[in-house]
Amino acid sequence: MQFHAVANIYPLLQGVEFESLCNSIKANGLRSAIITLEGQILDGRNRYRACEAVGVEPVFQEYTGSTELLDLLAFVRDVNEERRHLTSGQRAAVAVSAGALVADLKAAAEKRMKSGKSDPSASLRQGKVAQQLAEMFGTGSRYVEHASHLKENAPRLFEQVLAGKVSLSSAVQQQKRNGSSVTYKNQPAIQVTRGTVPLAGNSHVYTVNKLLWPGEVEALLESLLIGRSLHMCCGKSKLGTVRLDLHEAGVDLQVDAAHTGQPDKSFDTVLCDPPYNGEFQWNHDLLDEMARLASRRIIFQHWFVPANPNGLYKKANNFRLTDIYVWQPKTYFGRAQLISVFDTGA
Ligand SMILES: C[S@@+](CC[C@H](N)C(=O)[O-])C[C@H]1O[C@@H](n2cnc3c(N)ncnc32)[C@H](O)[C@@H]1O
Repeated sequence: MQFHAVANIYPLLQGVEFESLCNSIKANGLRSAIITLEGQILDGRNRYRACEAVGVEPVFQEYTGSTELLDLLAFVRDVNEERRHLTSGQRAAVAVSAGALVADLKAAAEKRMKSGKSDPSASLRQGKVAQQLAEMFGTGSRYVEHASHLKENAPRLFEQVLAGKVSLSSAVQQQKRNGSSVTYKNQPAIQVTRGTVPLAGNSHVYTVNKLLWPGEVEALLESLLIGRSLHMCCGKSKLGTVRLDLHEAGVDLQVDAAHTGQPDKSFDTVLCDPPYNGEFQWNHDLLDEMARLASRRIIFQHWFVPANPNGLYKKANNFRLTDIYVWQPKTYFGRAQLISVFDTGA
């Protein structure tokens, strides 16, 4: 039987704890029913696994409460809090998993809305939700920040924190020692600049004083623009039918690229070379916003390619990676810049 995605934000019991649950069910039978929602287990994944392991017939009961996402999360939180003693670090990891789930469901709901079906999850406001989740899971925002950084940069360590095998603070230390976080210190060439190169995760305000793209890169990008184009984070570049930049005077739209307020699919092409210091959530919102606004092509320049292993754009499966161009700026010590092009085929 499948486990509900909301139930899966909590780690499964393992080892001695699971064995002890199995022994208890074997000796005393199943004391509380397994709660299901539309054929999936919402509470009682461990009881179900234990019943299977010791050959006890499971008893099911259908959930009758509100099925609003935040209510389901609160229900799962309550039942888990009742019987499990999680550390603050584990609770932070659960809050981060819940946040990722909310973001996924929101994206899926928005897609359904676009195809004409109403879905309340689409109206969840991400920023507000993150704050609500930290409060909901009874943990501090600092812990959530650390856990979220781990999930992004060291997913295996994050899983260990979630499972209670490693404390959050020692996972953070371990990650620093492994050098898997992006800091000046573990990039020797960049260290030479004494920290003047802005990277993801630091607090530099990153504005540009001159056009960064060399002529041939601009020419390439220009040849890639099709139809009416939006150039987000354009800086001094003149490319694009509509130019957008939060910090640049004289552009057509001086707004935040992640929240433009422009109508869905209002551009054929959306091009963006975002700043390197974008916050975790902002980067996600930006990628969402690009897919929302573009009807035919997304062109994204950054140090990563926003594609899944099948070559589909991470935020919208109707965009497929068609080309990647790599170039080396003279600055940044020859660090590669990746220009990825995604098309709908429309
Ligand atoms: C990497 S630079 C773009 C450089 C440009 N491609 C060039 O070759 O000169 C990123 C740009 O994003 C702008 N920016 C930073 N935060 C922004 C935000 N929240 N919304 C829109 N633009 C933003 C900065 O002002 C900067 O011009």
